[in-house]
Amino acid sequence: MKTIGKPISRLDGTWKVTGSAHYAADVVRPGLTHAVIVGATIPAGEIISIDTKTAEAGAGVIKVLTYQNVPKLAGPLDSPPAGQKMMPLQSPVVTFEGEPVAVVIAETLEEATEAAKHVRVDYRAAPFVTDYLQRRDQAIEVAGFFPNDTKVGDVAAALAMADRSVTEIYRTSDRHHNAMEPAASVAEWRNGELFLTTATQGVQGNRAVLAQLFAVEPKRIHVNVDFVGGGFGCKGWLWPHQALCAVAAREVGRPVKLVLQRSQDFTSHGYQPATEQTVSLGAKSDGTLTAVRHGSLNPTSIKDDYMETCATASRPLYATPNIESSSRAVRVNRNVPTPMRAPHEGPGLVGIEIAMDELAYALNLDPLELRLRNYAEKDPTDGRPFSAKRLRECYTEGARRFGWSRRTMAPGSMKEGNDLIGWGMATAIMQTFRQPAKARASIDTDGLVTIEGSTQEIGTGSVTIAIQIAAEVLNLPVERVQLKWGNTDLPDAPMTAGSTTTLSFGSAVHDAASKLRDKLKTLAGSEELAPEAYGEWVRRSGATSLVVDGEWAPGGDSDAIGQPKTKALNSYGAVFVEVRIDRDLLIPRVVRGVGVYNAGRIINPKTAHSQMIGGFTWGIGQALLEHTPMDHRLGRYLSKNFAGALVPVNADVPALDVSFVEEPDFESSVLGARGIGELGATAVGPAIANAVFHATGKRVRELPIRPEMLL
Ligand code: MOS
Repeated sequence: MKTIGKPISRLDGTWKVTGSAHYAADVVRPGLTHAVIVGATIPAGEIISIDTKTAEAGAGVIKVLTYQNVPKLAGPLDSPPAGQKMMPLQSPVVTFEGEPVAVVIAETLEEATEAAKHVRVDYRAAPFVTDYLQRRDQAIEVAGFFPNDTKVGDVAAALAMADRSVTEIYRTSDRHHNAMEPAASVAEWRNGELFLTTATQGVQGNRAVLAQLFAVEPKRIHVNVDFVGGGFGCKGWLWPHQALCAVAAREVGRPVKLVLQRSQDFTSHGYQPATEQTVSLGAKSDGTLTAVRHGSLNPTSIKDDYMETCATASRPLYATPNIESSSRAVRVNRNVPTPMRAPHEGPGLVGIEIAMDELAYALNLDPLELRLRNYAEKDPTDGRPFSAKRLRECYTEGARRFGWSRRTMAPGSMKEGNDLIGWGMATAIMQTFRQPAKARASIDTDGLVTIEGSTQEIGTGSVTIAIQIAAEVLNLPVERVQLKWGNTDLPDAPMTAGSTTTLSFGSAVHDAASKLRDKLKTLAGSEELAPEAYGEWVRRSGATSLVVDGEWAPGGDSDAIGQPKTKALNSYGAVFVEVRIDRDLLIPRVVRGVGVYNAGRIINPKTAHSQMIGGFTWGIGQALLEHTPMDHRLGRYLSKNFAGALVPVNADVPALDVSFVEEPDFESSVLGARGIGELGATAVGPAIANAVFHATGKRVRELPIRPEMLL
């Protein structure tokens, strides 16, 4: 039965609209109590005294936890990538506004919320800095997923010799994930074992960090999640509020529910940090690139490390003999940033792809033509050939669908009525992350197949896709296959992050299902086994079910993110947009968007399409709306709510034309799939910025673009 490649609707769609899908905050346990976090009101200093008496005397209050009565937890932890190094309530020192200083546990949420208002904290305030650009001179190296520095050839010499060059500074803004579901956890200890239901993208990572934190064996920690109402990276790590929920449950000896308020979401997990990127490009007069240099800077917190490695985007992008990159971070009094949908490439392409547009204008060369003339046949930074790269077809097909050949080069040359029209484009790229994964497959005497693995469903279609893969291998309709997921007691699957689930967990499912099929064929002694007879063969074997274990891992020569030494695995795309700008209002509106993507074999065209239009929408937000402003005098976010944090709504998003250039990439995975989800959130921001320049002649080098920048 052909199931892979079919546009099957998400199975969880029905469960969600009928209310049968459960989220962490829906969990109710006998004797459940409720916890509310009290956050620091200053960004730096020390607690002099905490008065919890009034709070403790409040109706229904069971306990108030502060650094004075929380037992010492392990730390610093050896994470990231699974969590922060530092956990809260371990000292009186405050390093950012919103940092937890107390947790109130009460019989009801209302009682805990009320009592939390009466926890009185006196601080000795200390000087602070929240604006990372004030501390450029104190930039440091912190560890990230990628090398901070790379260097090939002599960029300085090549720039000096170049016929044309561009050196500019580009900035992106702090953005929050703003998931619809705020962070939520329910923790319970039974016989020294922790049972935690929590909104997470990674149950196994949460378990690993909690085990370290409480110094207990990992197998005594059980983390569970059925559904996640939006992750986008902010539910990847184990965050302090989840740890505090577990601490609270242990201290009161009862189950505890902790759901963050919307405002607390802004400071209780990470955000996508602002970046300042300096890009230099050098070229011959025919457009041949001779030099690429990409530097970036981002804020990180006082105690924890996060590196937004922007040059991850530019390192494999264009052929050039001289290429250099470097990333640095600056410590400020803020919560630590974290990956957010298309980390690294998402912000990084803003720098390199606006710079490419600037170079195209300096050369008077069509921006698409400039990219085609510098098409990379191997990774210019490390020389690895690419696996199954079909970016050229993405450019050609995207240009055709968009009608790019009708574009006139001069800024302001395309108008209609009062509208300035701008057409812009950019290249999309994202490194493919590959992670080891396991899955178990079983079949019962009715022929019903169950796949098990600890993967998560964060709304991207992972459950549907896993079932599709197993159904295809076993030649069954999807209705005959079910999946158990989202629990640490199931076979290990990676965090649902880095756009790796389909190819990594999916490959383990493929392996498990293949082994189950082989076992059935052996039982039947026939290659020609009809799926209708599966249950019968299980019955005849005398067992109630057959069970097999499957697994998949990137090859032995792969690095920590799963990139092989011999091949560069990336997914690609070309994005074209039309903006219209009323010349009196100067509000850019995206009216048309085309994205053509190449991510290996597409397992489910419907969920893949949804991921790309979702990503496109993130890009519109990055370009025109999303920005979490800080008040640097008070050292806090200005608006911790949806009224003050703009995100694109339906009216901001036109019908988008997204499609795929498909070619199975078996160097990436047995499925032929590569990384896909986050690819859609790349390239759209710079394409829009380039379109705004084309419409107006104003080169804006800072996102989001606001009307006042176009005056
Ligand atoms: Mo994603 S930002 O890797 O969850």
